[in-house]
Amino acid sequence: MLLRLPDGTLAGYAQLDGSDPVESPAAELLVAPGLRARGHGRALGEELLRLTGRRLRIWAHGGHPAARHLARVLKLHLFRELRQLRRPLTDLDLPEPVWPEGIAVRAFVPGQDEEAWLELNAAAFAHHPEQGGMTPRDLADREAEPWFDPEGFFLAVREDGGELVGFHWTKVHAAEELGEVYVVGVRPGAQGGGLGRALTTTGLRHLASRGLPTGMLYVDADNVPAVTVYERLGFTTYETDLMYRTEN
Ligand SMILES: CC(C)(COP(=O)(O)OP(=O)(O)OC[C@H]1O[C@@H](n2cnc3c(N)ncnc32)[C@H](O)[C@@H]1OP(=O)(O)O)[C@@H](O)C(=O)NCCC(=O)NCCS
Repeated sequence: MLLRLPDGTLAGYAQLDGSDPVESPAAELLVAPGLRARGHGRALGEELLRLTGRRLRIWAHGGHPAARHLARVLKLHLFRELRQLRRPLTDLDLPEPVWPEGIAVRAFVPGQDEEAWLELNAAAFAHHPEQGGMTPRDLADREAEPWFDPEGFFLAVREDGGELVGFHWTKVHAAEELGEVYVVGVRPGAQGGGLGRALTTTGLRHLASRGLPTGMLYVDADNVPAVTVYERLGFTTYETDLMYRTEN
């Protein structure tokens, strides 16, 4: 959707994505920097609400004050705060990871670990349907991606019996020179015992060994255990994206 002034000047733009089968349509919108604070954002937002019958989610990347204000004006509610955290990987000074008694770490083996990993992922992310609902097909798709590297996909296993109890899957963004803590998960019964910290440290050391200067990750602000683990390991907030939505 394009918003033009009477003289044809392009003042703003909005895009609506209704492809999610469950969630409300999601939108992103922007107003040209020189034409802000004149009601154009509100006009675009009201049109999006009309088009969707007031079933709308809007991302506010960076969480700028003007976006927060517009959300209030449109009577949208803050639904999700997604933080990007970063930390330098140069001169990584983290202590050696400490593994709980009877737990060892090894790399994911393609063709062998898929089923057990999917089960562990579903258990660790039972509260998070988007991650916890990963299917064999979703995993196969990721394993086929050019960035996939089993050497950066760490599994914590019980030395007695081999049960998977935690994992840290890292992802290298070569062009941006960023090493991502892509997903970390610990089996619910094994949480709080230092595994998350040990797995995250192991992955960060791996990313640093690849010569990447910066580590990054995305985390929901209300995921207190995860935010705590990452902040204790030296991560700080780099950017915050806010998702607002209508109440229904
Ligand atoms: C986040 C997660 C991986 C942490 O793993 P864990 O093994 O429970 O964490 P640890 O025992 O290593 O704890 C590391 C630190 O975080 C703190 N912490 C852990 N859980 C906490 C909680 N619920 N509240 C407050 N602090 C907590 C610990 O006290 C510890 O602090 P310390 O380093 O000063 O001792 C785990 O809770 C998990 O799998 N959660 C579900 C999946 C998820 O949300 N993953 C992250 C998103 S990608």
